[in-house]
Amino acid sequence: MLQDKHVTLTVSGSVASYKGAALARELQRAGATVRVVLTAAASRFVTAETFAALTKAPVLTDTGWWHADGKIDHIELADWTDLALAAPASANLMAQFANGLADDAASATWLATAAPKVVVPAMNTHMWQAAATQRNRQQLLADGVQVLTPATGLLAEGYAGQGRFLEPTDIVSQLATLPLDAQTTTALSGKHLLVTAGGTRERLDPVRFLTNDSSGKMGYAVATAAQQAGADVTLITAPTKLPVPSGVTVVPIESTQELADAVLTRLPAADGLVMAAAVADFQPVTAADQKIKKTTDNDELVLRLKKTPDILQAVAANKRPDQVVVGFAAETQNLLENGRQKLTKKHLDLLAANDVSRADIGFNGDNNQVTFLFADGHSDQTPVTSKRAIATTLISHVAEIFNQK
Ligand code: C5P
Repeated sequence: MLQDKHVTLTVSGSVASYKGAALARELQRAGATVRVVLTAAASRFVTAETFAALTKAPVLTDTGWWHADGKIDHIELADWTDLALAAPASANLMAQFANGLADDAASATWLATAAPKVVVPAMNTHMWQAAATQRNRQQLLADGVQVLTPATGLLAEGYAGQGRFLEPTDIVSQLATLPLDAQTTTALSGKHLLVTAGGTRERLDPVRFLTNDSSGKMGYAVATAAQQAGADVTLITAPTKLPVPSGVTVVPIESTQELADAVLTRLPAADGLVMAAAVADFQPVTAADQKIKKTTDNDELVLRLKKTPDILQAVAANKRPDQVVVGFAAETQNLLENGRQKLTKKHLDLLAANDVSRADIGFNGDNNQVTFLFADGHSDQTPVTSKRAIATTLISHVAEIFNQK
């Protein structure tokens, strides 16, 4: 997505300002042409000369951005921009952007830019958590600006917390999959989404369970994409090996019954639900209290299973018209026909059907291919691509459905 793009990189004042230089390089490596704006505070940490040498272009600073020669540098730069990236963005820069201030070169260029905008915050953890900063983040999201979630780790102050500047390579890889369209963030900002993920476990005894091949990657990718688009995300997850996505509330569950309880109690307060969990269809009629032993007279063990509750079916019965509900269908045959039946039967707004009989995509891998089936009958097949990219597309469809409600 960065190939041949004009990226205007705004660097603000932070201990992380020096990483702006590495980021400029990384953007160039991804094919972008980069021009830089330095705030006055950034100029105290890094020099315009460094960025001018790296980008082979003039750097816009507060010194002399208004000339008497008729050139209006900030408007020229704003009009040149395909992507405006503020990184590292200080709490002050976010406050300027959120309030539409245009009292220096950086904020005036930003305000004058009509291109997609991304903010990568870097600040002390208490400054990040401050009510004012979180309010500014929400305002930026509501204005269609993408705000990446800072990393958690050791800060310059010597203690750990959230607020660390993301690594330049991470920023560039996130830019490749971001829902950069402003309508998505505007529609999802402040919406409360429940996302389920992973394969449920149905206990046979204290040490054994029935489960399936789901890795949870698709659901985690959906939770991350929704969070980045500004939604308030609760991820209800069966056990997985995946790290917890930052900025997301996690509710761990094991069995289908626990998943059903977790979803149904939270549904009334939610705006939407994405059921990406691979739910067991059957559970043992009874789970043994003690470990099941093999003895000389039990050459065979017969398990009695009963149907699990169908969560989406129960959701359909309680769903309000303003809520958006998305299901997944993992099929090995008649993908579209079975998917369409599930969409109708479970009263879904959207169903992502994926073919799990193919070795290159599906359950455990990083890639997937899905066909989105919409309630109005139309469908849309994605290419084989990363689960992150599919999650981004799914979230933008969810935003469209919210806008139509
Ligand atoms: O298992 P099936 O293919 O029917 O799953 C389709 C959708 O229904 C998925 O989104 C899954 O999470 C959901 N489901 C459910 N309750 C079940 C089984 C599946 O909500 N008991």
